[in-house]
Amino acid sequence: MNKFFLDLGKQPLANNYLNYFKKKQTKYNLKLFFNTKSKMVSISKRIPSKIMFNNKYPYRSSMSLTMKKSFNKLSNEIKKKFNPKIILEIGSNDGALISNFPKNKVIGVEPCKNLAKITKKEGFKTFNDYWNLKLSKKIKSIYNQIDLIYSANTLTHISNLDEVFKSISYLLSKNGILIIEDPSLLECLKKNSYDQFYNEHIYLFSAISVKKLLEKFKLEIFDIKNLSTHGGSLRYYIKRKNNKNLKIKKNVQKQIRKEIIHGLDKIKTYRKFSKNIKKSKIDLLKILNKVKKENKKIIGYGATAKVVTVLNYCNIDNRFISYFTDITPEKINSFIPGKNIKILKYKKNILKKYDYVFLGAWNFKKEIFNKEKKFIKEGGKFITHIPKPRII
Ligand code: TMP
Repeated sequence: MNKFFLDLGKQPLANNYLNYFKKKQTKYNLKLFFNTKSKMVSISKRIPSKIMFNNKYPYRSSMSLTMKKSFNKLSNEIKKKFNPKIILEIGSNDGALISNFPKNKVIGVEPCKNLAKITKKEGFKTFNDYWNLKLSKKIKSIYNQIDLIYSANTLTHISNLDEVFKSISYLLSKNGILIIEDPSLLECLKKNSYDQFYNEHIYLFSAISVKKLLEKFKLEIFDIKNLSTHGGSLRYYIKRKNNKNLKIKKNVQKQIRKEIIHGLDKIKTYRKFSKNIKKSKIDLLKILNKVKKENKKIIGYGATAKVVTVLNYCNIDNRFISYFTDITPEKINSFIPGKNIKILKYKKNILKKYDYVFLGAWNFKKEIFNKEKKFIKEGGKFITHIPKPRII
């Protein structure tokens, strides 16, 4: 049974960057639910994939050094540990992972035409399509079975999870490995990072819910890793239940135990989270109002999809934050979806004119603080809402 626990208000499409401010944008309810049976946390409103993942999708994995490093490290691990003949990536984006492998060893699946074009141009086999059973059958007819399937921050974006895993199971070889990584629900609760929820993030996985989900397809987690990417993610290493060559590592049960101790299997935990988030909104607005009264200027750093949730939920616009800055070409000179805040191209001294920087890309705090040492040294301050609204 689905139980409601948090209303994040009306939200625009998180990645719909327009080069003008459109006052009357289509907005959708963003309500969060916990399923007491599957233990899955999800949003209620499902927007068709074709609307969200189109030929102008602005998110580029390669834009961050952190992500590039993470993919490079994983590629080395895959080569060393599993040495697969062929690797399939579901949601290959601009090739941040597949570019670490020889071209004849990887296949990308990417529904966004502008992104698929990039990897195709570089010579990587890329299916410009949505992940489903039809595509899985098509790939099987060409390549037969695949011995390693990887997917990061993609499966949680697809509404029909049963079809997702059925299609994977159909294509995965007998001793094949599936590796998936997505933001961790436990980390989200610990950090009060309610901005992990936006219309693309239909589900927020936990080890508990993934384990339950996989059971239907005779798949199981045999290893698990906590990652710092995307504000705290989990990487699940999955195999077929009847593959006895691989032992289930102790850390799988350890993660599940940690999640149970934190109450991830109980609705009351989510009700408490909901209270924290309502307080987070009040406290963030208090800080912004104080800064505004002092006539200080704020710029936002990193026009993430996450920050769209924060700004629309808290009703923050250019009365509080003059501009945002971002390095992604597709976002520059457009407006934050739903809010009248323009995104400026990132330049070396851009922060100099501002007193405060609102950390939109809080998940890259380390990388950003490192890059902006000079601003910090000269007294520049950051505002963040994670884990609680504060000035740093
Ligand atoms: P994400 O949180 O969805 O991965 O998005 C991160 C956004 O932050 C992306 O638009 C790129 C932007 N960004 C910067 O503008 N400067 C930076 O130094 C970093 C790390 C990210």
